[in-house]
Amino acid sequence: MIYDRAFFDAGISRVGTRCEKWDDPAYRKADDLPMWVADWDFQCAQPIVDALKNRAAHPCYGYPCADDNDRAAFCGFWERRHQVRILPEQTVMMPCVVTGLRQAVLTFTQPGDGVLIMTPLYAPFSSAITRSGRTVVDVPLLKGEDARYNIDFDAVEKQLEKDVRMILFCNPHNPVSRAWEAEELRRIVDMANAYGALIVSDEIHADFVYQPRRFVSMLSVPGAEKCALMFTAASKTFNIPGLQQAMAVSFNADLLGRLSDHMETQGVTSGNVFALPATQAAYTACDDWLDGMLSYLDESRKILADSFAALLPEAVVTPIEATALSWIDLRAYDAHSDSIDTKLREKHLVLNRGTIFGKENGDGYMRLNFACPHATLREGIRRLADALKR
Ligand SMILES: Cc1ncc(COP(=O)(O)O)c(C=O)c1O
Repeated sequence: MIYDRAFFDAGISRVGTRCEKWDDPAYRKADDLPMWVADWDFQCAQPIVDALKNRAAHPCYGYPCADDNDRAAFCGFWERRHQVRILPEQTVMMPCVVTGLRQAVLTFTQPGDGVLIMTPLYAPFSSAITRSGRTVVDVPLLKGEDARYNIDFDAVEKQLEKDVRMILFCNPHNPVSRAWEAEELRRIVDMANAYGALIVSDEIHADFVYQPRRFVSMLSVPGAEKCALMFTAASKTFNIPGLQQAMAVSFNADLLGRLSDHMETQGVTSGNVFALPATQAAYTACDDWLDGMLSYLDESRKILADSFAALLPEAVVTPIEATALSWIDLRAYDAHSDSIDTKLREKHLVLNRGTIFGKENGDGYMRLNFACPHATLREGIRRLADALKR
């Protein structure tokens, strides 16, 4: 199979597959174009499809067991793609990254404790904190003149000086598409170590970083072995989030052991009969698909910038350094995400309202998932412009 532009241009119809994005009536009415949730309208790599068919062909679906090859596949991928050396014993499987965030909050903090996040941010971070009876300590990102977001290091330090002992960090960042740099990560690690805080770095978007930026893992920063856990998955990278499998990694055996013990106590088990072979295939035999998708998405970024410049010139598209998600400031057209959403739905377009990522600093913004065929992307932006035109 050749994973070229034609392959990704072809996309795939997902209607009728019990797909949240295309089939769930709570989110989509007929004719709506869904460009919200972060899963991709592309066919999976063939080795994943083959691994699933192969497993499905055996007509018994009892409890599975992970084997050494599962962890070796994961470690091999991270060394090959990101030059991060991880040993199998430095990993713990989890059902998904969001479960991991919740489990980490429960393991390492007490009811009422503050947990630091930086908004605008993928909403399950704050719900992992509030639903566990902990308190969100928000240190909003700072938006520069160039529309690029930066960490407010002084404000982070002030919170650590008080009593905040946990940072839930998103690297690369959803929704503002920042690929954090080594120096930025180093400052976070240094502060965490200085104040005895713990960092949980969600690196599920690690594989989506565009030139000239490069992905830097929190784990590769000196000192991270004292204070950091990293969570990731093959799910975004290879478009298999419905299979539910993720990985926690730490170079600190004590932290990893405590997380693992807590998950066991809570009965959080992982490794389902289909996820295991599919994830192993993803990590070992699908680099060509991933490279094809990344070069396709790189073109999508240009299409997106050109289309906005032509059709909605006052929209401010946050520079897309990473992820397949675009964070768009539409306040020149309408100050509120809710009313933008209403107008978009009238034109049969569904994006994410910015307010779910940040109540105040997300209002007037929308998040658009651009991992779809280029023709679909152009159509989505055409509908957006049609909805907001004055
Ligand atoms: C930053 C981030 N973390 C986690 C997830 C969800 O991961 P999972 O399906 O493994 O819970 C997403 C999904 O979009 C995400 O963007």
